[in-house]
Amino acid sequence: LSSTEIDISAIASGQAIKTSWRKQPVFVRNLTPAEIEEANRVPMGDLRDAETLADRTKPGKENWLITLGVCTHLGCVPLGAAEGENRGDFGGYFCPCHGSHYDTAARIRKGPAPTNLVVPPYDFTSDTVVTIG
Ligand code: FES
Repeated sequence: LSSTEIDISAIASGQAIKTSWRKQPVFVRNLTPAEIEEANRVPMGDLRDAETLADRTKPGKENWLITLGVCTHLGCVPLGAAEGENRGDFGGYFCPCHGSHYDTAARIRKGPAPTNLVVPPYDFTSDTVVTIG
């Protein structure tokens, strides 16, 4: 099967989980209002791969950030989805392999990765269930 259903009801604000889709790690993160604000404050000119948080989320669901957990440099799994993990200098995800820092919209901000963490195809099946793929 190429699609995966994820129950997001237990992911509290500020929390992220790691799951998988097509054998690839996937991060599902429930952004806090402060993290959303932080993402929206960044000028597009500061971004290597210029996308807004709205470009990377669904309308009305900007707090749900769903990305592959695969660093766009050489494919390591970044930290930041589990409790207490290093979220890097920009509060999102941190790839320890060669030091790529992603922000609260999982956009690359520092380090060798060329592009943002990839947003897979997904849809909200209900308010609490997301289908990836
Ligand atoms: Fe992530 Fe190199 S694989 S920084």
